[in-house]
Amino acid sequence: MPDYKPKFPNIVDITKVNNSPLPREMDLSNDESRFKTSKKTYGSPLTEYKGLSNPYIDYQSIDLLLSLQHPRSKGYDEMCFYIVGQVKEILYKGLHFELYNAREQIKENNINNTITILERAICFIKYIADTWNILSTIKPEGFNEFRDFLGTASGQLSFMYRHVEFILGNKSVKMASAHKNVPHVWPEIKKSLETPSLYDEVIFYLNRRGYKISQKAIKRDWTKTYRSQNSVKDAWLSIYKKSSSKNSEYLLAETLISFDEQFSIYRWRHFTLVKKIIGYKSGTGGSSGVEWLEKVTSHHFFPELWELRNDL
Ligand code: HEM
Repeated sequence: MPDYKPKFPNIVDITKVNNSPLPREMDLSNDESRFKTSKKTYGSPLTEYKGLSNPYIDYQSIDLLLSLQHPRSKGYDEMCFYIVGQVKEILYKGLHFELYNAREQIKENNINNTITILERAICFIKYIADTWNILSTIKPEGFNEFRDFLGTASGQLSFMYRHVEFILGNKSVKMASAHKNVPHVWPEIKKSLETPSLYDEVIFYLNRRGYKISQKAIKRDWTKTYRSQNSVKDAWLSIYKKSSSKNSEYLLAETLISFDEQFSIYRWRHFTLVKKIIGYKSGTGGSSGVEWLEKVTSHHFFPELWELRNDL
């Protein structure tokens, strides 16, 4: 951290922002209207707008978004921590959207769309993992300047992250229960906990395609984390025996394991960063910190795809 108390530039007068989270009204444009406008402006950008906003601000409520950064301490590094934390929440939301739709597509047996969507999900998780680069510039002394202001706030309470873990099959009634007192969040977390994951849907797909999947994998308690099953491993093994760039089931398996690989890197980088910043001190969220993270870091979502490597 620089040896310096930060100055905070004023960007938005937050007392004047329209703070509704609902989408704002906007006019549409089309090729013809855009062409007409550029004729009128002789090709230079529009700079005159009526009212108290402009369409760029309104499209994504940018003024509202940029009114939500409130570091609590005078520590230099808190702004960086705060912003990266918020950016990560939005990126988890983007990642979850892709995983949700990959699950929709495999339900409809559309394996090519599932792979295309998962390829983007891989880009998301790589990008999310890269954000640790920024946070790893924070040193223990810099972190200590604002850590107390977190109270018992911790990333483990991220409901968006929990949605990501749950849709991938890493379920936990205990971690879900942290949200049961939040009425605008809990119903969807509960639903996510109780719904078959993306991987469960992939297994149903294999079953529909005639692979012999045991009933234990088809009908189980969806609130439990997925554990490896022999019948699923056998199905994948028979797919790998016919591996080719034209075999879409094989391509799906390889896309899933690449995603899992990147997610492991994300977890590992968080774990290493935490060890570098707070050592073995307890977490703010009540856990033992690094010791607890070490356990969760080894998780794989699609275990059979890792195990079958021994047999190839
Ligand atoms: C840069 C400083 C950071 C430190 C020292 C740190 C530390 C920790 C610790 C000690 C835990 C264990 C739970 C507990 O708090 O008791 C944890 C969990 C977690 N952190 Fe961080 N963290 C940092 C940044 C972040 C950021 C920016 C995010 C993203 C918003 C994040 C997301 C998470 C998540 C999702 C978990 C739960 C992991 C799981 O359930 O598998 N962390 N963190």
